[in-house]
Amino acid sequence: MTITNKTILITGANRGIGRSLVEEALKRGAKQVYAGTRQPWTHPDGRVTRLAMDVTNGMQIRDAVGQVEFLDILINNAGAYSLHGDDFSDRSLLERHIATNLFGPYDVTQAFLPLLIRSRGAIVNVLSLASLAGLPLTPACRLPRPTRSRKQPRSLSRNRSAPSLRDEESGFMPSFPDPSILT
Ligand SMILES: NC(=O)c1ccc[n+]([C@@H]2O[C@H](COP(=O)([O-])OP(=O)(O)OC[C@H]3O[C@@H](n4cnc5c(N)ncnc54)[C@H](OP(=O)(O)O)[C@@H]3O)[C@@H](O)[C@H]2O)c1
Repeated sequence: MTITNKTILITGANRGIGRSLVEEALKRGAKQVYAGTRQPWTHPDGRVTRLAMDVTNGMQIRDAVGQVEFLDILINNAGAYSLHGDDFSDRSLLERHIATNLFGPYDVTQAFLPLLIRSRGAIVNVLSLASLAGLPLTPACRLPRPTRSRKQPRSLSRNRSAPSLRDEESGFMPSFPDPSILT
């Protein structure tokens, strides 16, 4: 799929990879870029429309859907990542990670699915390598992201993972997704 003349929604668009994706979409001739952000944010390019969207906030997601008439590409980029130092015995921290990294893209995708089906569009999930192979760096890396199954175009399915196998020497814990999701 080419970007030229397409309408694109990027979550977590105000900084980091999301911000770069906004710039790249504009550079490649996107017709319109919807930038989902939690905080007020502006962009000098008239093709960018900011949408107030915390991906854990169902009401904001619904409001955002109401502002978008047409959508070719949804990029689920917003995410939270904690490395060392986070206490995952704190249940509320774990819940925040799951809400942002799992249910966030799930809910946003479900909400925009009718528009994407209408346009025969595409969903792009910005993932970590850790979603393909669990790394023992942080418990957050073991949280799966939802992905769309090609066999279930109207619903979402999680990466189908094999049971985790720890390589005792490296501590590497691979879990393998269904390869069909990569095509
Ligand atoms: N950078 C890496 O090396 C790396 C590696 C693997 C995967 N990733 C993935 O790539 C994506 C972008 O990473 P990044 O490095 O650009 O991260 P980042 O610089 O920390 O930016 C994260 C973005 O997500 C937004 N965000 C966080 N929680 C949100 C929520 N509940 N609702 C809406 N927006 C939310 C942030 O908004 P605020 O400004 O409001 O906080 C920010 O715009 C993430 O999904 C991350 O897991 C990154």
